[in-house]
Amino acid sequence: MTHICYKENNLCCEDVLLADLAEEYGTPLYVYSKNQFLENFHTLETALGEGDHRVCYALKANANPAILKLLAEHNAGADVVSGGELFLALKAGFSPDRIAFAGVGKREDEIEYALKNNVAFLNVESIPELQLVSRVALRLNTTARVALRINPDIDAQSHPYITTGLSENKFGIAAPKAMEAFTYAASLPSVEVRGIHVHIGSQITSAEPFVLTAQFVVTFVEQLRASGIAINHIDFGGGMGVRYFNAIHHEGLPKEDPAHDKIPEPADVIAAVAPLLRSTHCSLWLEPGRSILANAGVLLTRVAYIKDSGQKKFVIVDAGMTDLLRPSLYNAHHQIAPVAIETYEHELVDVVGPICETGDFFARNRTMNRVKSGDVLAVLTAGAYGFVNTSHYNGRPRPAEVLVNGERVRVIRQRETFEDLL
Ligand SMILES: Cc1ncc(COP(=O)(O)O)c(C=O)c1O
Repeated sequence: MTHICYKENNLCCEDVLLADLAEEYGTPLYVYSKNQFLENFHTLETALGEGDHRVCYALKANANPAILKLLAEHNAGADVVSGGELFLALKAGFSPDRIAFAGVGKREDEIEYALKNNVAFLNVESIPELQLVSRVALRLNTTARVALRINPDIDAQSHPYITTGLSENKFGIAAPKAMEAFTYAASLPSVEVRGIHVHIGSQITSAEPFVLTAQFVVTFVEQLRASGIAINHIDFGGGMGVRYFNAIHHEGLPKEDPAHDKIPEPADVIAAVAPLLRSTHCSLWLEPGRSILANAGVLLTRVAYIKDSGQKKFVIVDAGMTDLLRPSLYNAHHQIAPVAIETYEHELVDVVGPICETGDFFARNRTMNRVKSGDVLAVLTAGAYGFVNTSHYNGRPRPAEVLVNGERVRVIRQRETFEDLL
């Protein structure tokens, strides 16, 4: 993390003290570094080099309209998975010829909406969906440009809930049926089969599954061409992992398990697969979400109480699973650090929220800096799959979001009030 780091004992987002933001805007609060996510995006762009390519930001990771607008202004494409995300992408200014519409269960009205807006590609995941796309395109007197999502049965070695490329997963067309699906698609009216789409999972922490997938894609494109099906587009999906352990350093912070530190840089993953994929001379699209937004965001939360049960010490904070679901949903790890380091003393605690669920925790049996009631903590690497998964459960208004650019701070989503619960 470069734009979110300690300056002496104070955690900063760019040139702003996170403690000041908590004071001014209250907690829980999402804070994003504009320069961090733009840099992440440009790193991927640069890594893809000169050939025909596009980095399509996956809106599912973080769909704040201000963030989307900035990415659109920097010429990103968009990967959307619903009519709602398509609406947000169009509103933010993403040009339709840079938008890919994926999703395993698209509704007819969503397909119609995408076709009417002339999106670049519908990434189709099944034969019945293909038939529906053809019918809708015919009715609208248009042609649907389609990429077929193939499930290559490759293990992303990620959490089972975010592994999508195994034959047991619901996503894509099974590899053994892929050739038949392409042949069928090529026979359908109002459908133009342009490409192949793959996405084997998220938070993938080694290059190997990506390389295997690239090899699969290249072989398959050759087979398609040998059968007379001309493919000129590869959408290689997203999935590049980010560092959740030891995301931030300070001599006063406990060191986290180094076993999780060896994560390839997204640019290195691209360097490993791009030459292979380019050998097909197809245009190359990526759909990264996490690798653009995750390390650009933190969730600030204030310690409400310290409770010692005799068996355990609980740090009870004012954010909960309604504000950041990942720990409860996937047992996901987020480093948690005080915004102001006042002591180098460490202790073993559970960091829990106020929600009436035992699964409402941010950390269990975690060695952390000793904190007290009123202290503000930063839950790190929370910029992706954070705010998008917030809810009103337990009657909780959603938190605010602010964007930092150097010394400037802009509220990009107002904190909800009780009225918003109605
Ligand atoms: C089809 C598709 N593309 C792209 C992404 C973005 O993945 P990530 O945020 O891991 O880069 C996802 C997320 O699961 C996805 O399902």
